[in-house]
Amino acid sequence: MADARRDSRGCGNCSDSEEDKCSDDDFETSKLGTKEYWEEAYQKELESFKDIGDVGEIWFGEESMNRVLRWMQKAKIPEDAAILDIGTGNGAFLVELAKHGYRNLTGIDYSPASVELARNVLQAEGLSDVTVKETDFLNCGGELAGFDVCIDKGTFDAISLNPDNNKEGKKLYVHTLKDALKDSGIFAITSCNWTKEQLLERFCEGFEFVQELPTPSFQFGGKTGNSVAALIFKRVH
Ligand SMILES: C[S@@+](CC[C@H](N)C(=O)[O-])C[C@H]1O[C@@H](n2cnc3c(N)ncnc32)[C@H](O)[C@@H]1O
Repeated sequence: MADARRDSRGCGNCSDSEEDKCSDDDFETSKLGTKEYWEEAYQKELESFKDIGDVGEIWFGEESMNRVLRWMQKAKIPEDAAILDIGTGNGAFLVELAKHGYRNLTGIDYSPASVELARNVLQAEGLSDVTVKETDFLNCGGELAGFDVCIDKGTFDAISLNPDNNKEGKKLYVHTLKDALKDSGIFAITSCNWTKEQLLERFCEGFEFVQELPTPSFQFGGKTGNSVAALIFKRVH
């Protein structure tokens, strides 16, 4: 995914403002923000899964799932918690959640091929009671509500890259997320395009920052940075 990190310049008023003043305005868009791109990618992954059983890309690697799962277990998220995987892709996170005992799982994705792939992957693991739906998170007509936990790994990144409506998309994302989560529900986001500071700005209203999960850091030009940010928020009113 494109690395479009920017220095945070501060905004006291982001997600609900008429004019979005978050410091991520000058973001470069890319084909990774289009439905066509993901549909083509998951068509290929679906064929490959059917041919050789390869589930395809695990975005940000296995550890990106493990660190969220470790946090969930430490936070004692109950096994019957309603969990939504936003932009589930190949459904690999749903598989891991189910293997860790979580049994009220829903994955959504706007790519029909992703949905078919995730269903195939889950079926191959014998996990037929996981719900996977073809749903556009930015246009779901209030269908998504009542979740205790929403997980995002790379989907807000993809939405932010949309060449047509990335600015509107980012605001819509926050609105839909607010509706999808129960009061005090948890939002776990892993992003490679946004820094911790930018995510704090974006999810500044209606959410309380809980914790940053440690991710590998690198050093360049005397500065230390992280290739991904993994943050936990709580829905508040
Ligand atoms: C970088 S991939 C990550 C997939 C998966 N979360 C993972 O970690 O492997 C981004 C995913 O977001 C999905 N996506 C992008 N925009 C979406 C939207 N508006 N509604 C639902 N899914 C979306 C794409 O189809 C793709 O599966």
